[in-house]
Amino acid sequence: MSKVVVFGSFVVDLMARSPHLPVPGETVKGSVFKMGPGGKGFNQCVAAHKAGADVVMITKLGKDSFADVALGTMDELGMTKESLFYSDDVETGIALILVDENTSQNEIIIVPGACNTITPEEVAKIENVIKESEYVLLQLEVNQDANELVADMANRYGCKVIVNTAPYAKISDEFLSKAYMVTPNEVEAEELTGVHVDSLESAHEAAEYFYKKGVQKVIITLGSRGVFVSSDGREEIVPAFKVEAVDTTGAGDAFNGGLLAALSEGKDIWEAVRFANGLAALSVQKMGTTPSMPKLEEVEKFLKTH
Ligand code: RIB
Ligand code: NA
Repeated sequence: MSKVVVFGSFVVDLMARSPHLPVPGETVKGSVFKMGPGGKGFNQCVAAHKAGADVVMITKLGKDSFADVALGTMDELGMTKESLFYSDDVETGIALILVDENTSQNEIIIVPGACNTITPEEVAKIENVIKESEYVLLQLEVNQDANELVADMANRYGCKVIVNTAPYAKISDEFLSKAYMVTPNEVEAEELTGVHVDSLESAHEAAEYFYKKGVQKVIITLGSRGVFVSSDGREEIVPAFKVEAVDTTGAGDAFNGGLLAALSEGKDIWEAVRFANGLAALSVQKMGTTPSMPKLEEVEKFLKTH
């Protein structure tokens, strides 16, 4: 098993469930409130860690009680805290998450806070971690200049860059050229490539866009329809597992973390996607983001019976 890195966000998720999502000007009485660890980077890292990966989380926290939510979770799960940075003046990020308890659809406002202020000096400090890793997984929730520096560094040391293009943001061709693999969802794929992805043919077209920019492997997640995989000339939509979802928030993170863990174990991309799909299917059956990531045993058991 190789070492891997997640470079990305940590925020505290403040989640409320209600019978429907409020429209502008409306107040809705909710049924459940939960506070817990989140942020796409952190969710993905915890998913990978619980799935057995030798993974390091790199993020930036404030010096406040919300930072303790990250530290407490990392202690509890036995994760290394060696590559965390702290801001003196910017608070730990938060996300306001509204979940419709009937449809399980969500709406999110994220204020990334401290993890949006990662400096070049801090990136320089993770050189050793990048150097000894086979993969680094990025998202678009932290300041993009830091992502670009990490991608450069990773390219220098032969550490493969996986970019989960979430949440959608404009990214440069140069940044894309540094990615070994991209994992947009269908919405992000359309925003990035201009191709509406609703079939194998259109997914192929979107993949071509990424190949032209220098990316080597393309995965497009299609929600309940499954996952489009394009690798070494083979293209398929791998179906998703059918499960009863209670909260799909963080399902993409579960997938990406699972994918990273499986790749670090040397699984090929097809096996890795199946593993990641299983992990995501388990995560949507539980409320919350980071706290809904399953253990390796649960994923293995699920895959044996599905
Ligand atoms: O992908 C889900 C995550 O997005 C949540 O944990 C929330 O923090 C938002 O950033
Ligand atoms: Na969940």
